[in-house]
Amino acid sequence: MRPNTATPTGPSTSSTGSTSSASPSSPSTGTSIFDELESQVRSYCRSWPATFTTAAGSTLQDEDGRSYLDFFAGAGALNYGHNHPVLLDALIDYLRSGGIVHALDMHTVPKREFLTTFRDRILVPRDLDYKVMFPGPTGTNSVESALKLARKVTGRQHILSFTNAFHGMTLGALSVTGNSMKRNGAGLPLTNSSKIPYDDYFSGATEDFLWLERVLSDSGSGVDKPAAIIVESVQGEGGLSAARPEWLRALSELCRAHGILLILDDVQAGCGRTGEFFSFEESGIVPDIVCLSKSISGFGLSMALTLIRPELDQWEPGEHNGTFRGQNTSFVTATAALNQFWADDAFAEGVRVRAAELHDGLTQIASGYDGAVVKGRGFLTGIKFPDASAASKIAAAAYERGLLVETSGPEDEVLKTMPALTISSDELRSGVDIIAAATAEVLGAPAIHENTAHEGTENPTDHREDTK
Ligand SMILES: Cc1ncc(COP(=O)(O)O)c(C=O)c1O
Repeated sequence: MRPNTATPTGPSTSSTGSTSSASPSSPSTGTSIFDELESQVRSYCRSWPATFTTAAGSTLQDEDGRSYLDFFAGAGALNYGHNHPVLLDALIDYLRSGGIVHALDMHTVPKREFLTTFRDRILVPRDLDYKVMFPGPTGTNSVESALKLARKVTGRQHILSFTNAFHGMTLGALSVTGNSMKRNGAGLPLTNSSKIPYDDYFSGATEDFLWLERVLSDSGSGVDKPAAIIVESVQGEGGLSAARPEWLRALSELCRAHGILLILDDVQAGCGRTGEFFSFEESGIVPDIVCLSKSISGFGLSMALTLIRPELDQWEPGEHNGTFRGQNTSFVTATAALNQFWADDAFAEGVRVRAAELHDGLTQIASGYDGAVVKGRGFLTGIKFPDASAASKIAAAAYERGLLVETSGPEDEVLKTMPALTISSDELRSGVDIIAAATAEVLGAPAIHENTAHEGTENPTDHREDTK
């Protein structure tokens, strides 16, 4: 989860000792301009106060020449690392050619090439039939469009979402988000949505969809039939809980049975992060609407898609539009990324192998601390510590050692690793070693017993062997 408070969790000075008291007359080297002029709302820079300059792959440099290993990947917007040379060349060639950059939703060659490539590389091989909507450039734009379309098509208002869900910061997306601090920021009642328990919310003690099945079938329940249910396969911001495939299938069947649309928010877990292009592929479900953003451009450029089952594409022309839907630079890098990484299964197979290495490394660390458990799936995985304050302290200690790693969960209780999918095994090992050292610094030396983290695992499916 993005840092919530105004209190820095990381070091308060940069490696040169630049502080908020640095002279305002020397903005080129100090950090004072950020403190002076930038809103209090800024957050990541409080944990990582370096001033960054260049980046390549999984390494960033700051202006003091210090290197950082990246286990954050732009919160999932940099699945192929920083400045991937193939994508960079495509972008530079396009810009140098005088290609049009901004074009609203007008026809352009890059948009044609993106749509053609997306159809041929992603949709057709997966036997998926979706119309592609460009809803505006961010994840929350995609979520807003999905909620709006679901309401329009069904004529119903209510939306169900899950405990600890995160879907974005605009009002509609916030209304289906769990985090109370983010919700309170809305400043008005967030209505027309209710929360239902995510997979394993009751630790297996209650049958998963007991309440929902019952109230939907009972005309006296007083619960309005929802237009849609929106779900993440892995809760990236809400604590890295991962839904089991059978749970997703049961959810999908329940939606079908009751005429409720299923919206799959793949903004964070999509684009290969779980070892398959869409995070729901393993379950075999076909959602009615899919939200994609973050790494769809492949290069960290803003871009979002809303995928819509064709019969649901009932928009009037222009009924949902926006100025920034035709970012041709994003189309260019997105097409290059699809061609580079998704022409066959080799890349995804490599991701699955290295995600297993990451998982093993984290399991080794967790096994040294009572009650610590590994959570998540694929390259969206981390460690939950029983002391909720530990993860933030470990992230801060890791930063001091040159690793960017963040936290997730309502209390930031999970140390969240999200490396680029292109990271090497050696880089992964270095990052895991830094986390081990940072954990030992914060929590003390690990207990000497190997691979016992599974004993303390709150949900064995959180790190399923077949989906690492
Ligand atoms: C699952 C999910 N949905 C939506 C969003 C919102 O995306 P954006 O920050 O681009 O608006 C996020 C952001 O982290 C997310 O993780």
